[in-house]
Amino acid sequence: MTPSDWTPYSWKTKPIGQWVDYPDPQALEDAVVTVSKLPPLVTSGEIENLRQQLAAAEEGRYFVLQGGDCSETFESCNPNVITSKLKILLLMSYILIYGSRKQIIRLGRIAGQYAKPRSSPTETRGEMTLPSYRGPLINRPEFTAEARTPDPHNLVIGYSHAAITLNFIRSFIAGGFADMHHPEYWELGFVNLTERSREYRRIFQSIDSSIHFMEVIAGKIDQLTETTFFCSHEGLHLPYEIAQTRRVPRRENWYDLTTHFPWIGDRTRQIDGAHVEFFRGIANPIGMKVGPTMEPEELVELTKVLNPQNEKGRLCLIHRFGVNRVSEKLPGLVEAIQREKRNVLWICDPMHGNTRTTPGGMKTRRFDDILSELLQASSILEREGTHLGGIHVELTGENVTECTGGARGLTVDDLYRDYQSDVDPRLNYEQAMEMALLIAERQASKRR
Ligand code: PEP
Ligand code: CO
Repeated sequence: MTPSDWTPYSWKTKPIGQWVDYPDPQALEDAVVTVSKLPPLVTSGEIENLRQQLAAAEEGRYFVLQGGDCSETFESCNPNVITSKLKILLLMSYILIYGSRKQIIRLGRIAGQYAKPRSSPTETRGEMTLPSYRGPLINRPEFTAEARTPDPHNLVIGYSHAAITLNFIRSFIAGGFADMHHPEYWELGFVNLTERSREYRRIFQSIDSSIHFMEVIAGKIDQLTETTFFCSHEGLHLPYEIAQTRRVPRRENWYDLTTHFPWIGDRTRQIDGAHVEFFRGIANPIGMKVGPTMEPEELVELTKVLNPQNEKGRLCLIHRFGVNRVSEKLPGLVEAIQREKRNVLWICDPMHGNTRTTPGGMKTRRFDDILSELLQASSILEREGTHLGGIHVELTGENVTECTGGARGLTVDDLYRDYQSDVDPRLNYEQAMEMALLIAERQASKRR
């Protein structure tokens, strides 16, 4: 229920992190009005479905696979990039179903992941200091004053690119692309080249024969053709979020209709800050990143503000400590949440605590660190009497070289070959598949 002291604008009275100063504030207002008059990108019915599935994930019946780019670009609104991202998420979810025997909630970081928090508001190169690049919803990456000046029109372009992306995804899925009877539709051209290809072929064959067997007995299983796909993004740039935050007919609450699942970043989760204020009033299921500076009492208080009725399916805690800190930080937080009986879903983001810079100045992550944080988190959660509800990864369906390691043993030297990200390094298709296989293996071995 919407709190009585909340409005879509009440955040404006609170201190806000990661704010952007526009040279022409009126132009920003105008852009918000323009987007607010356009149709919503998602519907409240879809959002409520996701909420129910997330509630079931808290009970251990579903597992969340949240993945995509660190930051989408407007250029990545392109059929090849979108389909390969869809394919990798579908392939991974197929493998995770096999390993976990759970239904998978597919949650793309897609169709709106356009705004980025930065550690510094400015960037200096030589004699020149300019505003930092903050994602295409705000400015452009080139190091010129013109490109780095925030341009409100990007809100309208961002909305349009999100709509185009979603339209493409919805049509693909409605046309049978995600049909579990046809995993061959998702094959990426290079699949046969990967070291692990034999392993996932075996998984596909096994799933295929199970489906076949069940359908012989029970008739066609229609749910297999109805794969759902949800979108998510960091709800960082509040003018964009409020532009589509509405009440809808026959429902009481306010929904942020730019996405199914917005999340609060680790840098903007202050309990008395603007982002927490905005998020507490919307009825979407939401995520909150939880990094190493979070204290147990603070976390419990935040869950009370963001989920006062303690509903299941409302709040996901997306923890990201890094391989060296997860065992020190996570247990105390889980213990406090369990003690206070707060309903949450724990999702591990093994990416953001594991970013390192190479001697040559490139941002990278090591496959083994990512995997190790995930496995440690899963064991800690079980030890504390709960379970890992999902994973949150930065990945792409492309053959990039941004993270090191994996079956092909990518090294720091390989990073120079095909590094495309403007922000954080992503797992490539092969590393992402391998990660899914290793998680599935572990999930399967726990059942044995
Ligand atoms: C991100 O998810 O890209 C991000 C910036 O994460 P965090 O808020 O955890 O730093
Ligand atoms: Co990132």
